[in-house]
Amino acid sequence: MTHPTIPIMGDGLPPALREMLGSDFEILEWDESPQSTALARAVGLITYGHPRVDGPLMDRVPHLKIISNHGVGVDHIDVAAAKQRGIPVGNTPGCLDASTADMTMALMLATARNVVVGDHFARSPEFTHYDPSQLIGYEVSGSTLGIIGLGRIGKQVARRAQAFEMKVLYHNRKRDEQAERELGVTYAPFDDLLRQADFVSLNCPLTPATTNLIGQRELGLMKTTAILLNIARGPVVDHDALFTALNSRRIAAAGLDVTAPEPLPRNHPLLGLSNVVITPHLGSASNRTRHRMMQMTVDNLHAALKGDPLPWGV
Ligand code: DGY
Repeated sequence: MTHPTIPIMGDGLPPALREMLGSDFEILEWDESPQSTALARAVGLITYGHPRVDGPLMDRVPHLKIISNHGVGVDHIDVAAAKQRGIPVGNTPGCLDASTADMTMALMLATARNVVVGDHFARSPEFTHYDPSQLIGYEVSGSTLGIIGLGRIGKQVARRAQAFEMKVLYHNRKRDEQAERELGVTYAPFDDLLRQADFVSLNCPLTPATTNLIGQRELGLMKTTAILLNIARGPVVDHDALFTALNSRRIAAAGLDVTAPEPLPRNHPLLGLSNVVITPHLGSASNRTRHRMMQMTVDNLHAALKGDPLPWGV
């Protein structure tokens, strides 16, 4: 005997996530067109990737019981609008902290030590002999790291930085004395952090307060040898100001896992600079983390459809 399946709308869900959902669900492709039948039927939305979900879209899903986000950041979802409508929003906090911190270190090392430029050079006909004067980078070990946003991910970055014997400064809305004791990090006012850090790592969520947090003024405070790392969200950085700062060598380099817009238009001037390393939003893109993110997304969905509180809600 067949049993009725529960219609949920997802955005290009991968086979592994479909498999986890099992046969209880009918998966409707994401369709916001005016004639969409998916919106009228869906009881749940899985936001995989970052489709924008706002109040008007929620209003087109009359049976909506949950928005289950695959990922921790929910800046693409109007959480206040969901709350007003009594729709719970789930996310996947915690499971991706380590992999996102790993990626922060990857960008730090890649930008400081010319990994990408060096790779291109090593493959090119210009590499004819070992030359100790070539591609001298900045030493990561023993440098000063400034973390903006000492949340779960920022703390994991601090732990990794300790292994590199870095001095770690942080700036947060609130001072975190426990983290200072446990991780040996030092609180710094925002401008002081920018002035002192060799590496400025953005690990904060995107909120109205962090939008364009790093612009011309802030880049102007940084050392000319400093490297900016953005593993948070693109709009935290004013990209026009960043281009000017990198192009004029006002700062040394940038490592960007996220951009605004994302992706950058193919003719964006940042893409033409050799002192920037750009990755396509890979912060949490590791095998074990992806698996845990999917499991949490599915667990949130099941809980909401049973009428239970979400294990991981916003
Ligand atoms: C997150 O978890 O917020 C990542 O950016 C993927 O969405």
